[in-house]
Amino acid sequence: MKIAVLKEQAEGELRVAATPETVKKFIKLGAEVAVETGGGKTASISDAEYEEAGAKVGDRASVLKDAGIILGVQGPAPDSLSGMKKGALLAASLNPFGERERVDAYAGLDLEALAMEFMPRITRAQSMDTLSSQSNLAGYKAVLDAAGEYGRAFPMMMTAAGTVSAAKCFVMGVGVAGLQAIATARRLGAQVSATDVRAATKEQIESLGAKAIFVEDVAGIEGEGTGGYATEMSDEYKKAQAELVSSHIAKQDIVITTALIPGRPAPQLISDAQIQTMKPGSVIVDLAVEQGGNVEGAVAGEVTEKHGVKIVGHKNVPSRLAADTSALFSRNLYNFLSAFWDEETGEPVLDEEIGDAIRLTKDGRIVNERLLS
Ligand code: NAI
Repeated sequence: MKIAVLKEQAEGELRVAATPETVKKFIKLGAEVAVETGGGKTASISDAEYEEAGAKVGDRASVLKDAGIILGVQGPAPDSLSGMKKGALLAASLNPFGERERVDAYAGLDLEALAMEFMPRITRAQSMDTLSSQSNLAGYKAVLDAAGEYGRAFPMMMTAAGTVSAAKCFVMGVGVAGLQAIATARRLGAQVSATDVRAATKEQIESLGAKAIFVEDVAGIEGEGTGGYATEMSDEYKKAQAELVSSHIAKQDIVITTALIPGRPAPQLISDAQIQTMKPGSVIVDLAVEQGGNVEGAVAGEVTEKHGVKIVGHKNVPSRLAADTSALFSRNLYNFLSAFWDEETGEPVLDEEIGDAIRLTKDGRIVNERLLS
C-alpha cells in the first residue's frame, strides 16, 4: 500500500499530515510513503528528514501515482488530484458542511473521502480525534495571542516602582480549547473565570482553579449530550446569558470565546453594546470567528479595534503552531489507520461504527447520513 502525503495548498495552511515519526511507523506496518516536495517545510520538517525516515520525496504527480491512501490536513483541491488511483482513500479535515461542492467532486473522482472531524467521540477514538488535538493547542495559542495584543502584564507583579495588578481573563465556551485557555491563562498568572452552557463543565472549570460563572435561573444542558456537544439554546436562556455576560464582561481585561455548535453557525455571545462597556485596552480573542463568530464585529483574519477594545480574529489558529499541531494531527491519522490495518491485505479495513461516521463518499456517491439528511 502506498501512502501519499500532500503539500497543503490552502492559503495560510502551514501544517502537514505526516511527520518523520509517523512515516517510520507506516513503513513498519508494511506501507510505502511518498511525501510531496517541501510538504513539511512550513512545519519545520525538511525533505531530507522524510527521506531519512524512509519516505520518497517528489512532485505531486509522482507522489499520487498508485497511492491507495492520500493524507492531508485540509481537503486537497479536486483538480490537483489528476493521476490518482480510483477508489483511493483520502483522510483529512474535509469541512463537509462548508465545502459541500468539493465533497461532491471527490465522489466524482471515485475517492473514498474520510472526514476526520466526523470521528465519533468514543473512548477508543480519542487518540484519532483531530478536532480535540488541534483545539487544545488553539486554546493555548489564543491566550498567547491575547497576551501579545494586551498592553499590560498578565500576572500580578510587585516591583520597586509599584504593583502591577493581575489581568482578569474570562473564557466563554469550555470545551477542549476553552479548558486549555483556562489552564494557560492561569499559568500566566491571570485571574480566570469561565462559562459554558453545559452544566458538566462547572466542575472542570473549578478544578482548574478558575471561577465558574453560570446562568442560574434557566437550565442549561445537563449531562454530556451527543458526544459532549452543545445545541442551540432557547431564547429565554440566551436572554439570561446576555444579562450575565453584560454584568461580568465590563470588569474583564481579556475575553477568549470558543463556543461552537456542530453543523450550525457559532452562537453570538458578545454584542457591540457589551464591548462598549469594556475598558479601553482590553482584548477579545474570537476562536469561533471562522464559523460565524461569537463576537459582534469580529473579522476573520484580522485584528480590529472597537471602542478601544482589540478584537482578534486570526484564521486557522492551529496552523500558528504548525510544528506541534502537525505532530499531533499526524499521530491522529496514524492511530486511526493503524487501528484498522489488516496485516494480510496490507490495507486498512474500517469497522462500521467509525467507518460509517467518517466516510463521506464511496463508489462515486455521497454515502454519509449527515450529508444526505
Ligand atoms: P465545541 O468546540 O463544539 O464547543 C466549544 C464549547 O462551547 C463547548 O463546551 C460548548 O458547550 C460551548 N458552547 C456552545 N454554545 C455555547 C453558548 N451559547 N454559550 C457558552 N458556551 C457554549 O466543543 P469541543 O471542545 O469539541 O468538546 C466539547 C466536549 O466534548 C468536551 O468538553 C468533552 O466533554 C467532549 N469530548 C469528548 C471526547 C471523547 O470522548 N472522545 C473527545 C473530545 C471532547
